Amino acid sequence: MKKKIGIGMLGLGTVGKGVANIINSPEGRNPLISQLQLIRVAVRDINKNRDLIIDSSLLTQDPQEVIKDPKVDIVVEVMGGIEPARELILKSIELGKSVVTANKAVIARYGEEIANAAKNAGVYVLIEAAVGGGIPIIEPLKQSLGGNKINKITGIINGTTNYILTRMTKEGESYPDLLNQAQSMGYAESDPTADVEGLDAADKIAILSSLAFGGSINRENIQTEGISKLQNIDVEYAKKLGYEIKLVGIAEKAENTSTNSSLPLSIRVGPTLLPEEHPLAGVNGVNNAILIEGDPVGQVMFYGPGAGAGPTSSAVIADILNIAGIQLMGGESIPLDPLLSGSTWRECHLVKPREILQKNYIRLITTDSAGVIGKIGKIFGDQDVSIESIVQFDATRNGAEIVVVTHEVSKGKIYDALSRIESLKEVKRVAAHLGCL
Ligand code: NAP
Ligand code: HSE
Repeated sequence: MKKKIGIGMLGLGTVGKGVANIINSPEGRNPLISQLQLIRVAVRDINKNRDLIIDSSLLTQDPQEVIKDPKVDIVVEVMGGIEPARELILKSIELGKSVVTANKAVIARYGEEIANAAKNAGVYVLIEAAVGGGIPIIEPLKQSLGGNKINKITGIINGTTNYILTRMTKEGESYPDLLNQAQSMGYAESDPTADVEGLDAADKIAILSSLAFGGSINRENIQTEGISKLQNIDVEYAKKLGYEIKLVGIAEKAENTSTNSSLPLSIRVGPTLLPEEHPLAGVNGVNNAILIEGDPVGQVMFYGPGAGAGPTSSAVIADILNIAGIQLMGGESIPLDPLLSGSTWRECHLVKPREILQKNYIRLITTDSAGVIGKIGKIFGDQDVSIESIVQFDATRNGAEIVVVTHEVSKGKIYDALSRIESLKEVKRVAAHLGCL
């Protein structure tokens, strides 16, 4: 039986340091952790001052030295970015090494290629840390919920934006200050555009959808909107109407309008109004939550801290232990992970944005003149859009703000109605259009 499992790490930033800290302090944890040994660690700048006690002889600026070191059994990729991360994961697999990665950007785009390479090489690639930080969601989806037909996933899956939105709503702090705070706490990506523009959440909903619906998802076709253009006034009006605004990723089976057998899916990410009583509406701060609707299980919600060193390294270590356990037992042929092996996947496609069905929140800036609400209501009616509520919030000499909440309808019908409404002489502009649950 092997005595030690050699760990090679690519990256020693927020997540890498969290992982190294756990490996270096095994007392009181799973006894397997004391069998892990950090062998080599790749960083970009070997001279950087690191708030961590680590033997400097382990550090290298050449990631190839890490993955090719014969003492490295498991490669932990926590460097981020697409390249060279993807290439290094594939090379590690080729060298017969199992990989643990937190890199949702790579897995959302190249998951199938990586899964197939891992299958051919007979090694594991585990990705628990890629979605939901410290929340166990990947393994439960693959294993514990494996007997279900999954119909819908609704998730708050970006810690940075949930932290910003919560503090904006509750403390009224400014967006730039809050983004700085999220960066200094290690929640944000190295380029926080990925967080605030919804791209990180889109990567994660793509990964969850692949696992839940058993198919490859074209990541680039996911309709994605972030929070950078969200205005405080909409957060306030939403509150008055009984909703919280959160950045939400939604993936659900859509109606099959064609004769081909490919599974139609509606997947989108955007700031969304959640009724106060919705299970996700009370998820605040850096916490994430993922609501899964399956048959026969019903609704299951996974909740916990979605970003940061501690939660994410907790997920990385769990994956390392899963692989180390097998390797320490001398497992020569590692059982393959069925849901990450592309050959068993079914064909899926994303429906076009105009075909996505959703409730809508729309804020219009209009002149304060008689009959304007009637004209807007008539256009919605003509376009087959049913209105749940219409409220005029503010009437001054400068005009009025009219907020409309619709029942569920295709985005195509909403777009057509809004383009007719915008051409009314009383309507100055459509100031906001958000999804609503
Ligand atoms: P980070 O703090 O920016 O750390 C990145 C690390 O990788 C740094 O140590 C950096 O070296 C090293 N690195 C980057 N490019 C390199 C290269 N070409 N060669 C060698 N080393 C390189 O990032 P992080 O927040 O830890 O995130 C790492 C990964 O985990 C990302 O994929 C991210 O999406 C994912 N993730 C992060 C969180 C979170 O809460 N932060 C949560 C879940 C998943 P230097 O230190 O020398 O700059
Ligand atoms: N930047 C990501 C977030 C890290 O804020 O959720 C966790 O994946």
